[in-house]
Amino acid sequence: MDVSADDLSAIRAAILTHYAQHRRDLCFREERTPYRALVAEVMLQQTRVEAALPYFERFVACFPDPASLAAADEQEVLRLWQGLGYYRRARNLRAAAIEVMRAHGGVIPGDPVALRRLPGVGPYIAAAVGSICFGHRVASVDANVRRVLARVFGILSPLGKPATERRLRELAEALLPPEGAGQWNEALMEFGATVCRPVDPGCDDCSLAPYCRARAQGLERRIPLRPSKTPKPVEAIVSLVVADRKDRLFLVRRPDTGLLAGLWEVPTFADVQGDPMCAAEARYGIRLTWQKHVGQFTAVFSHRVWSVQVVRGQGTAPDRTDAGWFSEEQIRMLPLSGPAVRAITLAAG
Ligand code: ADE
Repeated sequence: MDVSADDLSAIRAAILTHYAQHRRDLCFREERTPYRALVAEVMLQQTRVEAALPYFERFVACFPDPASLAAADEQEVLRLWQGLGYYRRARNLRAAAIEVMRAHGGVIPGDPVALRRLPGVGPYIAAAVGSICFGHRVASVDANVRRVLARVFGILSPLGKPATERRLRELAEALLPPEGAGQWNEALMEFGATVCRPVDPGCDDCSLAPYCRARAQGLERRIPLRPSKTPKPVEAIVSLVVADRKDRLFLVRRPDTGLLAGLWEVPTFADVQGDPMCAAEARYGIRLTWQKHVGQFTAVFSHRVWSVQVVRGQGTAPDRTDAGWFSEEQIRMLPLSGPAVRAITLAAG
């Protein structure tokens, strides 16, 4: 490694000093049990701290321990997750709670192998929870950490390449202090989120600036290099917001697997040939008395993009187990997909 031990200690000290002075008082840091830490890290894996906080508070108020989460209805868990996205995280978290009840006496295991085996617990979450709650000496390498390291050490190969990822992990491990890995991991993640920000790095006030190779070369906005991406396929979607005479909406439940699994939505048709209303009648027996195109929006997922045309109408359709008519009040209790919320909002506007 071409980084001296002195540089490593100086970088470590600068980040820990910054953290000691600027550490945020975040609700998930209060009364931190392994369960609360697990919920927080699962939420924070793909979501910014500010966005996750209200969800965290609601979630742990409803499910304060693994027992309550394990006993909960999946729909209820999804409803509390609604808006956070990446719903598989919620399902896995509930599955992890069930596993904790079944195999670990209701206690999140401190053993690194058992922790890592819980559903949805990958290397990043296992390292975060393990270091913060159980003192494991292991680096938690999330997107924030990778960005800080790539900049400070001037990594010029794109993220995602195995060699880049190996190098980042090596650097993360070299930086780990002998003790206090949990505090260190949080300090580094927080530094990435608040100072070494993705598009607007705060280099002028950064205590790492003297050591930062990206900064020295004027590359702080270019690093980390992104992998060249193949464009996501765009699917043409028609969403039907159908009301009956009592202003109830016809909603359908998506299948238990695949995209937006188990969430409720307005009838949504992909790549329909011809008139989407024929598809609506064939699939759900929907008969419309009138209809009107009300707008369009784009929904971006991890592997595809939906270009959604929204049609509003009035009509009838038979109830089914996975579809039916819901009043506004009932809809508030359902876990709705993000695109469905947008379609309903557009139709109401
Ligand atoms: N991002 C993810 N987990 C975090 C944590 N525990 N502290 C600060 N930022 C984080």
